[in-house]
Amino acid sequence: MPDPLLFRPFELRGLVTRNRLWVSPMCQYSCPSDGPELGVPGDWHLQHIGALARGGAGLVMVEATAVVPEGRISPNCPGLWNDAQQQAFARLVGIAHSHGARIGIQLAHAGRKGSTYPMLPDQPDAAVPLAEGGWPTVAPSPIAFGDLPVPHELGPEEVAGVREAFLAAADRAVRAGFDAVELHAAHGYLLHEFLSPFSNERGDRYGGSAENRARLLREIVRGIRANHPELPLTVRISATEWVEGGFDLDAATELAGWLAEDGVDLVDVSSAANVPGVRVPTGPSYQVPLAARVRTAGLPVGAVGLITSAEQAEGILASGQADVILIGRALLENPHLPILWAHRLGAPSARELVPGPYFRARFRG
Ligand SMILES: Cc1cc2nc3c(=O)[nH]c(=O)nc-3n(C[C@H](O)[C@H](O)[C@H](O)COP(=O)(O)O)c2cc1C
Repeated sequence: MPDPLLFRPFELRGLVTRNRLWVSPMCQYSCPSDGPELGVPGDWHLQHIGALARGGAGLVMVEATAVVPEGRISPNCPGLWNDAQQQAFARLVGIAHSHGARIGIQLAHAGRKGSTYPMLPDQPDAAVPLAEGGWPTVAPSPIAFGDLPVPHELGPEEVAGVREAFLAAADRAVRAGFDAVELHAAHGYLLHEFLSPFSNERGDRYGGSAENRARLLREIVRGIRANHPELPLTVRISATEWVEGGFDLDAATELAGWLAEDGVDLVDVSSAANVPGVRVPTGPSYQVPLAARVRTAGLPVGAVGLITSAEQAEGILASGQADVILIGRALLENPHLPILWAHRLGAPSARELVPGPYFRARFRG
């Protein structure tokens, strides 16, 4: 009997993941915020990534990881701009591989949404003041996100600096042994800020037309592709901002076509978070139609967002709306979810996912 689609291997530029159930990137806000360990993943990450890899996912995508210090979302977010960080990530890569999972890293710059408190219980939803270790933020244009401070508009040389920082971080990701790199161009962070007319009012070659707003992302993609012809490269986008006049599904589909030309291998389709106070029509599979539309541009896509059952995930793949399924919160509740879902769908490969020392557990229910 063949495996259900969700548990069949998936190939991306020569990389084979054992199944199509991937871990969505999720901030852990668990790195030291100063000293030599600033932005270095530690024991928490070993447990977190280890559990997710052991649980049977095909690929674990490491959380948004900043390419420069001011690109962190919070002071406790990880970075990949120095040797200490690279070495710590290399250890995580080894742990994931020891469990048969593949591991990617989401490279990010938080832009005007940086320097905020970690999204942890009892923490304010606000900017961290400079006196408490916060930093001045940067963006394509000096337009604040909600109550956050007005960001500094990046000058032309600073834009080039951001591009070089992404390229350098991708080099480090490869040296750390990551199987794939994802660029975070979603959720209102810097690369999304460039894409959106709401946050980009530049008059230079990085603003104005859709082509110009996509220029920085495309330069980064082409640079990484030139340096690493064999590296599987994905891009996460917010395929709509859910507001008229913003970066919308037509723009996202056009962008996906350009990214295909530039050498991207898969688009990870999320939505929203560049316009404060927008009502997002959430519900089961609510972003799947976005993924299906972006997929018409010709690249494989990942679907994410409130996918919470094995049958739902399998149905999305069977109907051709997406090529892989990314799961977030349900995997925080239970990192062994892939093993449970494999048994639930009667996948012959379910047995191979169960770690030897756990073979007496009743994953079959
Ligand atoms: C704790 C937490 C942290 C997150 N951090 C990131 C992140 O670093 N990068 C990202 O692109 N999305 C991030 N997200 C969004 C998730 O990757 C995912 O897209 C979202 O939770 C919807 O999927 P779900 O319904 O399966 O949780 C985060 C979500 C959660 C719950």
